[in-house]
Amino acid sequence: MDRIALGDAKTQFESRCPAFLADPAPALHSLRTASPVYFSDALGAWVVSRAADVTEVLRDRRNFTSVGSMTSRLQLEPDVIAEVGEDRAGLRNFLANTDAPRHTRLRSAVARGLTPRAVARLEGVATASARSLALRMRESIRAAGPRGVDLKTSFASPLAGPVMGELIGLPGDDLELVTQWVGDWFSLYRYRLTREEQLACARNLRAYDSYVTALVQRYEREPGDNLISDVLRGVTEGQYELSHREIVDIVANVIVGGLHTTASAVAAVTLRLLSTSGAWADLVTDPTGVEPAIEECLRLEGVSFAAVRTVTRPVRIGGVLLRPGEKVHAVSRAADLDPAKFQEPDEYRPSRENVRRHLVYGNGPHTCIGAPLARVELRCALHELVTVLPGLELVELGGVHEYLASPNHRQLRELRVTVRSPNSAPPPPGPSHARGARSSPPATPLPTPVGCQKSAWARELG
Ligand code: HEM
Repeated sequence: MDRIALGDAKTQFESRCPAFLADPAPALHSLRTASPVYFSDALGAWVVSRAADVTEVLRDRRNFTSVGSMTSRLQLEPDVIAEVGEDRAGLRNFLANTDAPRHTRLRSAVARGLTPRAVARLEGVATASARSLALRMRESIRAAGPRGVDLKTSFASPLAGPVMGELIGLPGDDLELVTQWVGDWFSLYRYRLTREEQLACARNLRAYDSYVTALVQRYEREPGDNLISDVLRGVTEGQYELSHREIVDIVANVIVGGLHTTASAVAAVTLRLLSTSGAWADLVTDPTGVEPAIEECLRLEGVSFAAVRTVTRPVRIGGVLLRPGEKVHAVSRAADLDPAKFQEPDEYRPSRENVRRHLVYGNGPHTCIGAPLARVELRCALHELVTVLPGLELVELGGVHEYLASPNHRQLRELRVTVRSPNSAPPPPGPSHARGARSSPPATPLPTPVGCQKSAWARELG
């Protein structure tokens, strides 16, 4: 486990500087071992980093509130708030920003549309989306020069659109526009913008709100087989009460939650697989191994750093007394590298028993409600990538991958890839992957699409 000096680790973590974004593990190891619960003046919050402590914070709804967790570091100008509307700017009905009983009510409504049956129905869409994008990317790579193509824009980002479209009931023609609005949402809530930039995003978010409002009205008139109609049915059947505003907001929330996160995750997982000796070749040989491989890559790479909570009653975490009103950053990234939970945490080891027990999808009452769908999308994405592009490899442009600077998210700026020429040697097997000789199968002909059925491994764990 590489570590750096504690002072440097705190500075790196608090500033999310490029060195930290490129390789956060050494700083996170230092924080967790030398200062597992400390108050950061720069963040105005406690920073908690051991697996047991982070899990305790995430699960404890008695002593912590999630209200304000998504907006605590936000500095919106007054005219921007006026443009978006005060309640909407404060994300009053966004699930991760609420507590019970409001949270329980909103979450049970979303759960109506995200049943195991609904998720299973989307597997075919995810497979088709992944396959057609992988085939198109293979053509683009053939035509591209030595810089290869950007997997993020040509595969990871467009992948989730059709799936979310089918889930929510978004007309296909609207996907591009909705994706742009979701991009504006992320810009406004995740990045530091000038007042003009904030205002431009705020105007687009108003348009997004009007669009979702009209869509909800449409499914009120003509119910269909989609999440909006399922949520509305729950209201008419008296399962829960929701105002029209709440329905619009939770639909907007699910769209936001499902579009960009999956893209970041696909890019991060692919990077980790391609840069870990033997990992990609193992999946080419046996694509049914994609599920544990994805979980392990997510644990190692993550897509966000921490969840924010506010203390509501005096509580001890890791022996330190936290007082009401104080903020806490529960650093799931550090927790997922804690050797107390994951043996040899920096090693890529998809066979580890607790490979799924990471905190990438959160924990406790706010655990990602879209995680089962995200897992299907990732499985289909990786299954199609290893099948259609077995010779995929990274284009090394100076050896360092750049990440977008966001306070809490780790998102690759781009991921340039190409396909190994048939004459070049396959990558050497890694020490933890020594499972006999492996070589890349020929790029053509393609096997018949088989979808990406759940492996026995996933069925076991549910
Ligand atoms: C790899 C992809 C994804 C990752 C890494 C991810 C991560 C997370 C995390 C960490 C949380 C908990 C936040 C907290 O505790 O404050 C969360 C919540 C949430 N996610 Fe995801 N997510 C992903 C995909 C999705 C998808 C596909 C959807 C929608 C279909 C979705 C919708 C939501 C919603 C609505 C919540 C709020 C849950 C609540 O507060 O009860 N996410 N997600």
